[in-house]
Amino acid sequence: MALSTKHLLGIKNLTKQDIELIFQTADNFKAVLNRPIKKVPSLRDTTIVNLFYENSTRTRISFELAEKRLGADTINFATSSSSVSKGETLIDTAKNILSMKVDMVVMRHNVSGAPHFLANHIDAAIINAGDGTNEHPTQALLDAYSIREQHKSLQGKKIAICGDIMHSRVALSNIYCLKKLGAEITVAGPPTLIPKHIDSLGVHVTYNVQEALEWCDVANILRIQLERQNTPLFSSLREYSLYYGVNKKMLDSLKKEITLMHPGPINRGVELSSDAADSHHSIILNQVENGVAIRMAILYLLAGKNE
Ligand code: CP
Repeated sequence: MALSTKHLLGIKNLTKQDIELIFQTADNFKAVLNRPIKKVPSLRDTTIVNLFYENSTRTRISFELAEKRLGADTINFATSSSSVSKGETLIDTAKNILSMKVDMVVMRHNVSGAPHFLANHIDAAIINAGDGTNEHPTQALLDAYSIREQHKSLQGKKIAICGDIMHSRVALSNIYCLKKLGAEITVAGPPTLIPKHIDSLGVHVTYNVQEALEWCDVANILRIQLERQNTPLFSSLREYSLYYGVNKKMLDSLKKEITLMHPGPINRGVELSSDAADSHHSIILNQVENGVAIRMAILYLLAGKNE
């Protein structure tokens, strides 16, 4: 079986079968990662550039590790040490790198739509590692895979996505992915951080985070993205934490166990307290671990190695 797409630009245009194929392939790679020798030579003839125009810890390291575990040759590109600072355009940068016989591009950019734009101008397969406030498809896939690992199936599961929905590419990709897999979704947070017409995506909306926690099986808490707010959308971080933050006391007050997630990086003490983030409810580090297997699966499938 093959994916229905040449690039991974977002979850919006993936089919349910694509997602299930990625998960099945990730299951195989997760088994590889648990062996003493954590490498396979599947991409030893492939060269991949990690083109990061925006900062990253988890996604960049996870992709680089996934590429190395598959035996690929990798090149890491950071704008701060490149000729972008001399005014070189995105297309010129990409074309110059690709002329050195690079096969695939993993790209993070602060502008929504940048990977889609590049996909229209170059031949290599492009994987979106997060574009502006649009999508972060590999994060959504590793999130859904981690829920599947804990709860067996996504069908009928109640997932609360809490926090800064407005600026979050993770929220949009999660909504597309979880809906395709049959989950029910509530978004929760301050009215100023929830897009006006988000209910058109088939999600419930509440401005009460405690209510969302009482409803859900899984809560995915999102970071406040102050760097994307031109004007303040709430009065202070202290007030945000008081009214919309999640802490362990709230989790302990629930009449059931819920699974707690966060894509990282966490603003500890703002959207999530340390005692909640580090509690037995949390699968935050499992998410990071699963990210490598998911990214190995995507690289392998887009390279056409299973055809
Ligand atoms: N979750 C995530 O995208 O983290 P980074 O920004 O550190 O890659």
